[in-house]
Amino acid sequence: MATPSEQVEYESSVNLQSFLVFLVSMTVGLLVAVLLLPAWLPNMAFSLGGDAPKAYWYLSRATAFVALSLLWLSMALGLSITNKMARLWPGAPAAFAIHEYVSLLGLAFTIFHAIVILGDHYINFTLLQLLIPFSTTAYRPFWVGMGQIGFYAWAIIATTFYIRPVIGQKSWRFLHYGSFGMYLLGIFHGIFSGTDTPTVWAQNYYWYSAGSLIFLLMYRILVSTIEKFFPQNKKPTPPPAPRPTQG
Ligand code: HEM
Repeated sequence: MATPSEQVEYESSVNLQSFLVFLVSMTVGLLVAVLLLPAWLPNMAFSLGGDAPKAYWYLSRATAFVALSLLWLSMALGLSITNKMARLWPGAPAAFAIHEYVSLLGLAFTIFHAIVILGDHYINFTLLQLLIPFSTTAYRPFWVGMGQIGFYAWAIIATTFYIRPVIGQKSWRFLHYGSFGMYLLGIFHGIFSGTDTPTVWAQNYYWYSAGSLIFLLMYRILVSTIEKFFPQNKKPTPPPAPRPTQG
């Protein structure tokens, strides 16, 4: 979500190979933890086994909020780059790097959030239902479908960081603006398919999450409108004075 000039300034800081290795290892690591932890923690074996294990459902719900929070952080940093707030802290290049990292981290948490629900006997999804949007007939297919579309959109937007030279800056920017739609899909999916929505903390969470992004977006629109109507004549910075030579 950085402006075109700033997007040119800050190149992707995670290469494609690291991105794929990161996604796979994060997902495998989380799944292995779920499988191996019961060996050390017998009570967890009870939660993960039996006829109606609840742990998968709890894990899916917990990682859902982690994923949405990371998406929020990535969006907030992206908007802070374009509305110039990031110049105050942590600096635009750092904000851009964190923006990219947290987006990838959030994607990995979303994969886990979706896969781990396969263990829940109440929701009872199949792998195919997980992959095909709107096919989860046993549980809120429309709103779960919104989450599935949101996930695919997220995966596409994250991948475009790596194919920017191929698709060109214009298409890249166009796709990157899709982040707003992706966030809306994620938050509406959470609100309308989540068990925690009726609780006060979840409702506060959703309000603060969306409200703070709307504030940053409005501020961004204000900054770009001011810049458009009252352009500042930026004088080129003079080159540093030559170092005095010892004579
Ligand atoms: C393949 C994609 C996805 C699938 C199959 C999926 C599935 C689900 C299901 C079944 C629930 C209901 C769980 C429950 O509370 O009983 C849920 C809730 C939720 N999901 Fe997703 N989801 C997906 C993608 C996403 C994405 C992209 C986000 C946002 C980053 C997200 C965030 C949430 C949140 C915040 C909740 C609410 C959890 C709660 O209230 O406890 N999900 N998801």
